[in-house]
Amino acid sequence: MGIGSSMRKNSFSTKALRSVLEIISMKYKAEVRLLNLFETELPMYRPSTGFENKNVEKITSDVNWANVFLLASPDYHGSMSGAMKNFLDFFWKEFSGKTFGYIVSSHEKGLTVMDQMRTAVRQCYAWSLPYGISINEREDLDQVGQIVNKRLQSRMEMLARDLVVYGGIIYSQFTNDKDSSEPNTFAHYYL
Ligand SMILES: Cc1cc2nc3c(=O)[nH]c(=O)nc-3n(C[C@H](O)[C@H](O)[C@H](O)COP(=O)(O)O)c2cc1C
Repeated sequence: MGIGSSMRKNSFSTKALRSVLEIISMKYKAEVRLLNLFETELPMYRPSTGFENKNVEKITSDVNWANVFLLASPDYHGSMSGAMKNFLDFFWKEFSGKTFGYIVSSHEKGLTVMDQMRTAVRQCYAWSLPYGISINEREDLDQVGQIVNKRLQSRMEMLARDLVVYGGIIYSQFTNDKDSSEPNTFAHYYL
């Protein structure tokens, strides 16, 4: 499941996200779903409040369905976008044992943005790929927004491959551990 969180219609981070999801779908024949928070609005999360909201229901169902997540955020003041943080705040147990990858669009490298997303994800007992992808519109794209940096293209292909392979292995081990009688695994907390 890909999460686009830029508040721009022609967002670079969401565009890169779509490209990686397309590789996952076409090359690895895995089912993908996209949540673009620019188009699908989420209410501001309020703890202990029931949400009678169609978007919240659909997103919750998609989050439960997914076993791998690809988070894409622009760099907003060295942080992830507010929309991304709000999305993450809605869930935690639903993320546990699943694998996350990251795309950041930034004029710098977006490392602090990626670190913050990793921190939130770790706090939910989920796994992160050990690298992420940084996209800089001034260097990586041409005037019509096409990706012209071959190295970036190659990293996007690697990210697609690694999400499918490692995401599958980790989720399968997590579900095996949940079902096994071995008591001392972190998966056992999620029974
Ligand atoms: C509110 C706001 C804050 C931003 N802060 C930063 C920043 O701290 N560092 C940076 O490199 N770019 C910053 N930018 C620029 C965007 O990160 C950059 O244009 C990015 O490529 C936009 O990605 P998008 O096309 O996916 O929206 C900021 C943009 C906005 C709207």
